[in-house]
Parts: sequence; structure tokens; C-alpha cells
Amino acid sequence: MESGTSSPRGPEQQSGYSSLIDNYGRPINYLRLAITDRCNLRCRYCMPEEGVASIAHEQTLSYEELERLVRLFQGLGINKVRITGGEPFVRRGCYEFIRTLKQKLGVEQVYVTTNGVETYRYLEGLKSIGISGINLSLDTLDKNRFIEITRRDQLDRVLLTFYRSFELGIPLKINSVVMEDTGNDEIAALVELVRERKISLRFIERMPFSGGSLAQQESQQSLRERLQGMFPELQEYTSGVAGTAREFKLPGFAGTVGVIEGRSRKFCATCNKVRITPEGMLKACLYDDGVLDLRELLRSGVKDEELADSIRTCLNHRYADGHETEALHCRMSEPSMASIGG
Ligand code: GTP
Ligand code: 5AD
Ligand code: SF4
Repeated sequence: MESGTSSPRGPEQQSGYSSLIDNYGRPINYLRLAITDRCNLRCRYCMPEEGVASIAHEQTLSYEELERLVRLFQGLGINKVRITGGEPFVRRGCYEFIRTLKQKLGVEQVYVTTNGVETYRYLEGLKSIGISGINLSLDTLDKNRFIEITRRDQLDRVLLTFYRSFELGIPLKINSVVMEDTGNDEIAALVELVRERKISLRFIERMPFSGGSLAQQESQQSLRERLQGMFPELQEYTSGVAGTAREFKLPGFAGTVGVIEGRSRKFCATCNKVRITPEGMLKACLYDDGVLDLRELLRSGVKDEELADSIRTCLNHRYADGHETEALHCRMSEPSMASIGG
């Protein structure tokens, strides 16, 4: 168990709560919706070159079903919704759905995580409806290297998304997965992006998906140590908001540099999120196989109260952290991160 994670509480202590609080006392207020398993890139650390078999359209939750779920989760205390892909905008109607979340359902904070290949088309609209922020995957600024990593020649469009989001003042975080062969020059070039821009750059420890071996992981130097070696003047600071990243400031830089330590998973102690996959599986942790088949329940004509009860029950049986979940579920055989949305 990670420090800070208290002992599980008995189900009898849970009654009377209207908001979601798990069996370790962690409040859940953050819902991640992966709205599509299709992706227009083929990142090496995420999926094989040929891609992964896609889910049939009718097996994917419809926007009506998603809307019902979001409304229900709002009643359970969710106030932050993140729409994820791959590139969520490859699904037709994505922008309209986000608008519905903001304008019809009144979701307080709506975010998007995207590879940025299509997002640039929707930025003015997203800004006008009050999007809370965009997390953009950008692993390198080098065109050839981008092609090598993603197997697609799309860096220009991702950069268009980056520059336009910044110009529009949309809060921006850059997610950069660091691989065994990522060079210091690539890291340094990305860090330059935050010298003059008040944005957050997060380097991510690669997690072994799609055939990657754990042994390779173990031999990797800690990413934080590597960054501290490159930038000895990094100063750790706490933004006050518990999240996945450890954040650092660099003297003279407007933005921040962070590291998402997927291996140590210290952030599990304050994990406030649940996920729904495109097929409607509720995930209590990135590393579980899905704890509730929401699609089946929705399509069986379940009533809202029953659905809410089932969700509460599942979240009353969460594991302490990702290590425990992984040990018990061994979910690293998942074909691709695209089917989970990160
Ligand atoms: P914020 O809401 O801005 O804190 O974003 P986020 O870090 O929750 O989400 P994002 O979609 O930007 O994901 C960034 C990286 O963090 C991805 O590599 C995710 O897979 C990873 N990540 C997000 N949540 C978890 C988690 O619960 N466990 C682990 N191990 N990794 C996570
Ligand atoms: N390890 C770590 N992060 C990953 N992502 C995709 N695959 C992996 C992996 N194997 C990241 C993407 C994106 C986020 C949703 O997940 O780069 O920023
Ligand atoms: Fe790359 Fe993300 Fe698409 Fe996977 S889902 S191929 S990491 S852009």
C-alpha cells in the first residue's frame, strides 16, 4: 500500500453518503470517458503497426447512453469529466457531445486528452463553450522522429493544435512519453516550449503496453533522476491539487515541468478517478479489466437508482493502488492504450 492510503472501511460505514467515496476513503469526482477506440496514429508504445481490431459501432456506447451516465455520475458527485482518445474528435459528433456536457448538463469542468491530429478544427468552439483545458500528447518536435514514433506524418497538425490552443488561452498540458531511445536533445527541445509559455509539460514513464516487456522497464533509469540530471535547477513544488504528475519549476521559466511516474504510482493514494471504456466497461483503476458492464445494464432497461447502487458497490471494493490491481488482474495484456484512453 502506498503511504497516505488509509485502511479500507467496511461497507456499513459507507451508507448515508451521496457522493462517491471508495473503501479507502478516497472521494471520486473525476470521470474519464474514452469515447472511441479508433486512432489515427499508431504510436509504438501503444499499439502494433497494423493497429488493433476495432469495436463494432453498435458495441460502443451511444452519445445518448453517455449523456445518461454523465448525468447519473453528476448526481454522485462527479464534477470533472475528461473526454479521451487517441483523438476523440475522430468520432463524429464529439464536439457536439462536449457542448451538451457543458451547456445542457452543466458539467463544471470538461477536459480533453488528445493526440491533437484533428483537434485544431474545434478549438474556437471549445474555447467559446468554456472548455477547462486540453492535454495534448507530443513526444517530440522532430518531424522524422515523430513519424518513427507514431508511424504517421502528422506533426504539423499536432503543432497547429498546440499553437492555436495556446493563442486562444486554453489551459494546456503537454504529455510526452519518454522511451528507451528518447534523446536528451528531444527532451531539452520540449522543455524550451515552457520557457515563455505558462503551460505544463509532463514527461511520462512508458508503461508496458502492447507487447512491451517489464524487464525493459526495470532496467530503465528513473525518469525523475534523468530529468534532475539534465536540469539540476529543477525545484519541486506542490500545486495543491493532487494529480498524476510530480511538478517542478525551473528558474526563469513561465511554465512547469512534471513527471508522471507510472512505475511507482505514488499518486494512487489520492486517486479520485474512474474510467468508462468505449464499450461501456467501468474501470475503477487503469489496471483492472473493468468492474461493471454499464452497457449491458443500460441496454437491459435498468433504472437510475439501481445503476447508481451498482456503481457504488463496485467503488466500495477498489484496490489500494495500481500495483495491487495489476497483480490481481494482470491487465497488461490489453491490446492498446487507445481502448482505455490513458
Ligand atoms: P490531469 O487531469 O490534467 O491531471 O490529467 P491526467 O494526468 O489525469 O490525464 P492524461 O489524460 O493527461 O494522462 C496523462 C498520463 O497519465 C497518461 O499516460 C495516462 O495513462 C497517465 N495516467 C492518468 N491517470 C492514471 C492513473 O490513474 N494511473 C496511471 N498509472 N497512469 C495514469
Ligand atoms: N505508457 C505511458 N503513457 C502512454 N500513453 C499512451 N500509451 C502509453 C504508455 N504505454 C499516453 C499518451 C497520452 C495519454 C492519454 O496516454 O501519450 O498522452
Ligand atoms: Fe498514439 Fe494515443 Fe493513438 Fe495510442 S491512442 S496510437 S498513444 S495517439
